[in-house]
Amino acid sequence: MTHALPPIQVVAHRGASEDAPEHTLAAYRKAIEYGADALECDVRLTADGHLVLVHDRRVNRTSNGRGAVSALELADLAALDFGSWKDREESPDWDADPERTSVLTLERLLELVADAGRPVQLAIETKHPTRWAGQVEERLLFLLKRFGLDAPPAEGPHPVRVMSFSARSLHRVRAAAPTVPTVYLMQFISPRMRDGRLPAGVRIAGPGMRIVRSHPGFIRKLQSAGHSVHVWTVNEPEDVQLCADLGVEAIITNRPRQVLSQLGR
Ligand code: G3P
Ligand code: CA
Repeated sequence: MTHALPPIQVVAHRGASEDAPEHTLAAYRKAIEYGADALECDVRLTADGHLVLVHDRRVNRTSNGRGAVSALELADLAALDFGSWKDREESPDWDADPERTSVLTLERLLELVADAGRPVQLAIETKHPTRWAGQVEERLLFLLKRFGLDAPPAEGPHPVRVMSFSARSLHRVRAAAPTVPTVYLMQFISPRMRDGRLPAGVRIAGPGMRIVRSHPGFIRKLQSAGHSVHVWTVNEPEDVQLCADLGVEAIITNRPRQVLSQLGR
């Protein structure tokens, strides 16, 4: 049975990552073109202190290189091909395009969003923040400040939120920039959170879709405790419908075009 769908924010996970290699400029351009409300990205620190958008600890899966991002410098990453693994798989006539193959820095993504011509929010996930003892958050906040994104706008929602599986990372962000919203990501329900309470200071819950499917009652508890709910990674139409039925605020998806269409947008 189909129900009337409430408005839900559609967030492009690693860009429109089903249609273009994840975390590339091409994937983010497509997400903006499709009309996504926000862009999700994972940030990692390189050996020389740059924040780059790479999901895994190592570059092996998404590039033609090997090794940990933290052991490589930006110039090393810039010499790698981050797109052909996907494009070659999907199209034998693949033609290498730098926007589909180059590593993307957070700085370049912020420029893209600034030039989008419409409001596009960012959901930035700090990866492996504990290893770096605050350096990931420090560099992130430095860049947000440079782009005027560390404080709320005169009107409308904050254009950026920071997400993490690490409560400590979110705490560091709030300590330095108290108005930047933070999202506590959850892969499972820890005993401390069973009653729907999040770590102190966090207002937004980020449960995985598996939690939503298996424990919809937990989502209602989060909502009763006053939390917004942003769910990842929501790709299947029945999951989109379940999120809509539960009244979550945002869904994070690899397929923003299809999800927007299902939501009638
Ligand atoms: O948006 C949150 C989600 O991206 C967390 O999982 O592994 O895709 O970074 P992962
Ligand atoms: Ca992520």
